[in-house]
Amino acid sequence: MTRTLPSILILLMLCGCGGGDAQAPPIASVENPAESGTEAAVGSGDSEQTEQQPSAQPPMADQEQHMKWEHSEFGKTADGDVIEQYTLENSAGTVVKLINYGATIVSLETVDKDGKPGNIVLGHSSLEHWLANPCYFGCTVGRYANRISEGVFGLGDNIYTLDRNDGDQHLHGGTTGFHKRLWSAEAASDDTSVTVTFRYTSPDGDDRYPGKLDTIVQYTLNDENELKIHYEATTDKPTIVNLTNHSYWNLTGKAASEDVLKHELRLQCNQYLPVTETLIPTGDMLAVAETPMDFTIGKAIGKDLAEVEGGYDHCFVIAREIEGLAPAARVYEPTSGRVLEISTTEPGIQFYSGNFLNGQEDNGGFGKHHAFCLETQHFPDSPNHPHFPSTVLKPGERYESTTVHRFSVFK
Ligand code: GLA
Repeated sequence: MTRTLPSILILLMLCGCGGGDAQAPPIASVENPAESGTEAAVGSGDSEQTEQQPSAQPPMADQEQHMKWEHSEFGKTADGDVIEQYTLENSAGTVVKLINYGATIVSLETVDKDGKPGNIVLGHSSLEHWLANPCYFGCTVGRYANRISEGVFGLGDNIYTLDRNDGDQHLHGGTTGFHKRLWSAEAASDDTSVTVTFRYTSPDGDDRYPGKLDTIVQYTLNDENELKIHYEATTDKPTIVNLTNHSYWNLTGKAASEDVLKHELRLQCNQYLPVTETLIPTGDMLAVAETPMDFTIGKAIGKDLAEVEGGYDHCFVIAREIEGLAPAARVYEPTSGRVLEISTTEPGIQFYSGNFLNGQEDNGGFGKHHAFCLETQHFPDSPNHPHFPSTVLKPGERYESTTVHRFSVFK
């Protein structure tokens, strides 16, 4: 069953991180996820959201012990809708927690070079803050990730005007984007992987985007220590689509106390998209060589950061040598030995150095540069730059996008 949170609740969650003008006011009558997550069920397949699509969830006894998953209640929205949580675990000790509110990664634990587990993504400690989530921690961003200039684009004979939720710009699908929706969810596993499939049908005109969009986001954790995110969408009218995941990474596992400036980042990108002061691409694609944007051979995130006004918040053009899934980024954190490698089918990757994190409670208390994002995507504002790869989806076509995160340690 797909449901949309009532607009009254959504209005209470106005964004306060990275552009939204309003502060999120407190939300009444939500339960604490720590308290409400105690009724863990494994392979139950009887939850409300599986009414329409029978679950492929096997009972615990049928599962191979090295790929485990379980289902529990994360909490409830203000009007009583249940938020489901799925916990996935592989034999490498990686544990991923997902919720169907925003099809969101709420925590991701991997072991360091000494075998010690640590959470390497930012998260909130209360449901109230997950519901507001002004910095988009871990969520699925849509219908259009990143910015659209003044929220305006043309398609065929029509001009569409979207929510301006970042100054005069449209950001991450708008105030009530896909990160604020309850998705249906089901889990299934085999010997080597476990998958949670989230589905959401966005009606025609939703967030003022044209076309009814049937959307799937699938998270698969496997025994090669990879987390794959696969997206699909179809429409009944021409529309635009650009989906991504907005996880904030800090590979130390100690984001509360450590920044990410010593993380070593390599980007498989010879070009980047320069932006205006409102972070809209100018339309140029510039060479990174001999600029602070050059991560082609790898360097500490902090090395040239001071030379980039406002910090890194740019889309890089992936230098693709192969079709399909291609390497895009590699990050190494020397103290923990953790390595994150990202490959994707997308043409771009937004590198954001956590510039708007400000230590406030609704930012999870995390300070500036205490995490970075690597958001695989089509280029920002593509509908207004015809020379960028197209983000138009037409009836009869299928939007597909895949990104793989591979975790390892280097001793
Ligand atoms: C994106 C944007 C940033 C900021 C964050 C959210 O990554 O590029 O400018 O808006 O999201 O805070």
